[in-house]
Amino acid sequence: MRRSGQRFVKRIAAEAQLEDEARFLKSWFDKPLVTGAVYPSGKALARMMARYVDPDVSGPVIELGPGTGPVTEALITRGIAEERLVLVEFNPDFCRLLRKRFPKARVIEGDAYDLGTTLAALGEPAAAVVSSLPLFTKPEAQRLGLLQEAFGMMHAGCPFIQFTYATVSPMPLKGRDFEAEVSPRVWLNLPPARVWVYRDSRK
Ligand SMILES: C[S@@+](CC[C@H](N)C(=O)[O-])C[C@H]1O[C@@H](n2cnc3c(N)ncnc32)[C@H](O)[C@@H]1O
Repeated sequence: MRRSGQRFVKRIAAEAQLEDEARFLKSWFDKPLVTGAVYPSGKALARMMARYVDPDVSGPVIELGPGTGPVTEALITRGIAEERLVLVEFNPDFCRLLRKRFPKARVIEGDAYDLGTTLAALGEPAAAVVSSLPLFTKPEAQRLGLLQEAFGMMHAGCPFIQFTYATVSPMPLKGRDFEAEVSPRVWLNLPPARVWVYRDSRK
């Protein structure tokens, strides 16, 4: 009886994952440059992103481009209360899904590259910004503008966390005035990816 219960739960989880993959693929067909990936991030990559967030630092945790929510899930598992999450997503279908899945989080349908307007009413400094945005589709100046805007919204020294499938940093490092570190490659992801963490060294 218990085994058949476990099998049932596994089947439901597998079906939910397939549904997310189908949603993602549709979004990629509709807007490949905005969606930026064919599959949602796997659990290992989502965990790697979340581990750079310190749950003991106060304030909201801002997620940019949460999609169907794998990184959101990992942040909650990491110990960030759902109420602290501010999810900024462009795609209205993903926003609807996120509101259902994370009813206590603040889901904002808007443009993450215009954070000043999108998060005008944030209220207090954030503990982290966790981004899955396809940054390479934007010019360097716009990426750096986003980073500076995010630094301005966080406590001193807090991280801007970004994953990439590329071999180089999504934020240009030449002449930088911020600190940067990179995770080991996460092989258990399709495709394998790395996580970059940037902190404001002037604060
Ligand atoms: C590569 S997917 C990552 C989704 C999810 N975090 C994951 O890891 O599976 C990028 C996400 O960013 C969203 N996105 C792209 N441009 C955006 C923008 N300017 N503002 C907000 N969200 C954006 C896309 O709709 C998509 O959900």
